[in-house]
Amino acid sequence: MSRKAFAANDAQWCYHGGELLKMGDVRLSPATHALNYGTGVFEGIRAYWNEGKGTLQVLKLREHYERFEKSCRMLRVELAPTVDELCDITLEILKRNAPREDTYIRPLAYKSAESVGVNLRGGSELSIFTVPMGNYVELTGLKCCVSSWRRTADNAIPARAKCTGSYVNTALAVDQAYQAGYDDAIFLTQGGFVSEASAANIFLVRKGELITPPVTADILEGITRDAVMELAEKELGMPTDKRDVGRTELYAADEVFLTGTGFQIAPVVEIDDRSIGTGEMGPVAARLQELYFKAARGDWPEYADWTVAVEVAQKASR
Ligand SMILES: Cc1ncc(COP(=O)(O)O)c(C=O)c1O
Repeated sequence: MSRKAFAANDAQWCYHGGELLKMGDVRLSPATHALNYGTGVFEGIRAYWNEGKGTLQVLKLREHYERFEKSCRMLRVELAPTVDELCDITLEILKRNAPREDTYIRPLAYKSAESVGVNLRGGSELSIFTVPMGNYVELTGLKCCVSSWRRTADNAIPARAKCTGSYVNTALAVDQAYQAGYDDAIFLTQGGFVSEASAANIFLVRKGELITPPVTADILEGITRDAVMELAEKELGMPTDKRDVGRTELYAADEVFLTGTGFQIAPVVEIDDRSIGTGEMGPVAARLQELYFKAARGDWPEYADWTVAVEVAQKASR
């Protein structure tokens, strides 16, 4: 089981209730609507530490907040700051916390009424916090199973909106996978096509062709998915075919890999106890992983617009 958990720290700065404060000073009532009913939306953003430059490179910051805004609209969560303001608040938190290591940023907007009753009325709250985060999963080869839990359908709980409540579906599938000795779970849609992994999109390579399930397969429309499709097309000359994928195409694939902010680019070497391709990371995943990290760490001028740099002060001057 290779997935790690990364703990938050009370001494760190965060944003909550319209101001910057220490995590330990945040108060939440157990009656908070989102805690009772899963009526929140969130994002996961990575900032990569660039040792040479002494900067944190925040990856796809604006894209994450654009998706966040759309998720909020779906759940009628009112978001006071604009996308630009959300970006600025995030950069300020990073400057204050000044981590000199890879860091994860978690914006969370939710229904904050402290009363009992399920609906989408009532007020909203926004919190943003950071935790240090290295590799979430092993990047050399995951062993996955196809889950017996189906992905929540778009007209049940939309996967397109990154809702906190949807992650019960994820947790059930991950728990089942772990109990059976796998690293992660792959969801099928209600109709039986491949959807995505627990918290990552999925790609296959078959006969030199790159394939990923379409946005109608109850997936989160991943920002890393878009980034990988861009790299594959521009740098490898491999456009991606977005089409329905049958379960056994996974077994027949030459390569399978997962993409996500947390997962990064993680090859899958075994599915349902069957080796994928050679049973080791394939050449397409390896090349994409290398290119992705180069762009994400801010070391590739052609992809400079993927990241925003934050100068991090030395510890002594904090
Ligand atoms: C269910 C799910 N699918 C896909 C992804 C990948 O999305 P992204 O690349 O935007 O991080 C995530 C990541 O958080 C996820 O939770």
